[in-house]
Amino acid sequence: MTPQQEQRGWSAAPQIRKFGSVGQHAASKLKEYRTFIQAAVRNPKMVGAATPTSAAVAATVAQVVPTTGAPVVVELGPGTGSLSNGIHRRLPEGSRHIGIELGEGMVKHLRTHKPWMEIVHGDAGDLLALLDKHNIDRVDAVISSIPWSLLAAGAQNHILRQAVEALAPQGAFTALTYLPADQTPGGRRFRNRLGLTFDEVLTHTTWRNLPPILHYICRRPLR
Ligand SMILES: C[S@@+](CC[C@H](N)C(=O)[O-])C[C@H]1O[C@@H](n2cnc3c(N)ncnc32)[C@H](O)[C@@H]1O
Repeated sequence: MTPQQEQRGWSAAPQIRKFGSVGQHAASKLKEYRTFIQAAVRNPKMVGAATPTSAAVAATVAQVVPTTGAPVVVELGPGTGSLSNGIHRRLPEGSRHIGIELGEGMVKHLRTHKPWMEIVHGDAGDLLALLDKHNIDRVDAVISSIPWSLLAAGAQNHILRQAVEALAPQGAFTALTYLPADQTPGGRRFRNRLGLTFDEVLTHTTWRNLPPILHYICRRPLR
């Protein structure tokens, strides 16, 4: 990593590391919860959730990750990385897994516990500029779990347009929202915006999460 990259907030190149023992896993889960809850208490609107999403959600999300070639996957709002392990497991060698995260505590946690990800401390609203800085000109999957339904219309559109711009023609965009949040004005506006932005918008509900999670899986942007 060059000093310039370090200055821009990029973490070191990803390394492959085996997951630790059961004891280490439990300790790391506890740290994950503590980091997440601290961030949620400090900035509830930015985090938009009280706890990380469940393994069941992660398993569904990971299905859009290509398992061949050298794909580039971008996570918007990885938080403490509850979706990241599932994504990582599917990615072939030579791929890139980039997380763009606004919360400072989350970034520190990710850099410590998910060294195989490239972590950018930044705003999803600057997606294209951030990708450009790291010489990425196409993304095969954008996996987003930022609190879409809490965002103003302008911010929703701005981030979504950039995700579409970054996507490869066969790429997939996914978003998560809590099932109740889907019924709020912000949630409905987001759903409508997805329908206007993509030719295909599929939904799936994961009930094994508190509260249940609604997944949007979108393809073929209407550019
Ligand atoms: C609901 S949490 C999801 C965390 C994790 N992916 C999960 O599923 O448990 C939302 C995350 O998005 C981050 N976030 C919110 N707005 C963001 C933005 N504009 N750019 C990058 N990250 C953002 C928050 O800091 C938080 O970590």
